Amino acid sequence: MLIKRIYLKNFRNLKSVLLDFNSDLNIIVGDNGQGKTNLLEAIYYISTGRSHRTSTDKELINFSEDDNSDNKKLIIQTKILKEDKLNQKLSLQIQGRDKLFKVDDKEVEKISDFIGKLNVVLFSPEDLDLVKGGPANRRDFLDTEVSQVNPYYYHQLKKYEKVLKQRNNLLKEIRYNSNKDKSVLEVFTDQLVSIGSKIIKKRQEVVEKLKILARLHQRKLTDNQENLKVIYDPSFEFENIKNIEEEFNEIITKKIDKEIERGYTLIGPHRDDLILEINGYDIRKFGSQGQQRTAALALKLAELEFMKSESGEYPVLLLDDVFSELDGIRRQELINFIGQRIQTFITTTDKLLVEDIASDEDKYFYIKSGKFY
Ligand SMILES: Nc1ncnc2c1ncn2[C@@H]1O[C@H](COP(=O)(O)OP(=O)(O)OP(=O)(O)O)[C@@H](O)[C@H]1O
Ligand SMILES: [Mg+2]
Repeated sequence: MLIKRIYLKNFRNLKSVLLDFNSDLNIIVGDNGQGKTNLLEAIYYISTGRSHRTSTDKELINFSEDDNSDNKKLIIQTKILKEDKLNQKLSLQIQGRDKLFKVDDKEVEKISDFIGKLNVVLFSPEDLDLVKGGPANRRDFLDTEVSQVNPYYYHQLKKYEKVLKQRNNLLKEIRYNSNKDKSVLEVFTDQLVSIGSKIIKKRQEVVEKLKILARLHQRKLTDNQENLKVIYDPSFEFENIKNIEEEFNEIITKKIDKEIERGYTLIGPHRDDLILEINGYDIRKFGSQGQQRTAALALKLAELEFMKSESGEYPVLLLDDVFSELDGIRRQELINFIGQRIQTFITTTDKLLVEDIASDEDKYFYIKSGKFY
């Protein structure tokens, strides 16, 4: 999968940018604060329908006051090329509270029809949170990955979030008013269990594939020194995944009194986690910074391979400021892996760090104050 061209208007400090990309390497060079990550963020946004840095769309709209317009329109447009040789045009507009997604100039009604057209994997310094941060980071990692190649999963997740919220509100109401009719709670519990079980099943299946790939990458990146183990850690123990719905239902039914007491849902995929071990110990607690970073990278490369196996095509790889953080071996291994097969965007403040990857001047894009020159 390739991005051939991008057009941006009023996206952060990228007020007006039109770029044609290479099918292999695209290296974005510029000093701190010039707009390198902004470009990757725009690509990430048109792929996933959200930013990796903010949940507030308004922050993305250019805030400079030099053109006196207080209702600016943000535009991201891309032309992509898939394996089947068909071009596709994806575009997105945000103005005030309005958001419009288009595929080949036709508006799409559901964002789930948009997500998955262009697949990307982003690796940035913040991805250390994937290892060091709380469980939500790891759930989000799994969900983003699966959603891109499986719109149905994305749909189920959204439904689950909605039911969870409704159920939690009801639990709180019952806590304050014990006379409240509990039959509605049963309806929400049934829905939660039914959708939640599908999510758990899919996550388990995905982790089974991911753990093999991640282990392989960690070994490669560390010259066979480190064995990474990825373990799915669901919020409740079950005996047989085939009967997950029954088991989930049984356990949650036993917990209902406690849930009413607390006012929220105690078990379900919203409380899943992944355990990450290297050579037998938990790297969240005992790993060095470099080991944690490498594990995060190994997981991301595993994600890339997973998406290729699901969709038949490699996604686009976005590497934000990654090379300055890796030692020589790890950097070389990463370069070997990317090879010529994967369209890759690399940002760097220092051209010297990447010169051994590409000597060809065509691969470089220079940016200053939001303008490419
Ligand atoms: N909504 C916005 N409107 C205009 N400018 C913005 C907006 N949001 C962020 N910026 C500007 O974008 C710049 C940051 O861009 P970006 O994060 O892409 O930098 P970078 O080139 O990746 O730098 P670094 O090397 O430090 O990571 C800052 O100067 C910031 O003021
Ligand atoms: Mg940056």
